[in-house]
Amino acid sequence: MSSAPHFLMCPPDHYGIEYEINPWMNRAVGTDPAQAHRQWWALHDALRDLGATVERLAPVPGLPDLVFTANAGLVHHRTFVSSQFRHGVRQGETPYFDRWAREHGFKVVTLPPGSYFEGAGDALFLGEILYGGYRFRSDAKSHLWIGHQLNVEALPLELVDPRFYHLDTCFCPVDRETAIYYPGAFDDYGRSVLKDRIPHLIAVSAEEAVSFSCNAVVVGRTILLNDGAPKLAKTLQTSGYEVRPLPFTEFIKAGGSAKCLTLRLDGEEAAAWRLVP
Ligand code: ARG
Repeated sequence: MSSAPHFLMCPPDHYGIEYEINPWMNRAVGTDPAQAHRQWWALHDALRDLGATVERLAPVPGLPDLVFTANAGLVHHRTFVSSQFRHGVRQGETPYFDRWAREHGFKVVTLPPGSYFEGAGDALFLGEILYGGYRFRSDAKSHLWIGHQLNVEALPLELVDPRFYHLDTCFCPVDRETAIYYPGAFDDYGRSVLKDRIPHLIAVSAEEAVSFSCNAVVVGRTILLNDGAPKLAKTLQTSGYEVRPLPFTEFIKAGGSAKCLTLRLDGEEAAAWRLVP
């Protein structure tokens, strides 16, 4: 619990919009590779500056979304629950992520066949509770299965807006008592679960939610997020956090931003564990 924050990232050498599996992706728009590299390295260097260790997974031709390492799996202590991607175009990523995890000493756990689960994109710890997004990518039953395997309480939450197809696009644990969320991405039940469980819930407006402002990376009391959310940045600063806005325009074209580009290797639970206010 006291080690330095540890992340996995994958450089965008083969990144691009080669298919459309969420409402943000449009093959006709494409990406600017030089800009994508600059944005990726800015995040990488910002994490390093904050004292984090950043591991690099080798990019693979033909797997443009491998950059979104949050979807590799869910890390809990030394266990890596491997993802089972909903869309065939991303299923080829799994052997690379699993191999990396095995080679780095994780116990790789696989869900029952026929389950869908997209890793830390859809499963986020706040304290000891695992919040799981389902419907567009992961299944509710996958979260329950994982809760049982890891011996933690899992709370599946239905996602209702296809633009916010992964939980990390609309929910971000900040510390044991605090989370950022976009209420419009959840149904009444989901909103009431979050309100019941989390004492300090910071709601983001629809306008700032589409800037991927919930897709933030938390390191200690510093929050790295896309630069299109001045209101949220101000609220967080007022609550005592340091905010580092960074541009992620090239990755938003694929439906991802800061958080999606990282996988927390010291356990998704570590971010919220360590930061008792
Ligand atoms: N194009 C990718 C997909 O649709 C983006 C993944 C974003 N990752 C995330 N953790 N939200 O699968």
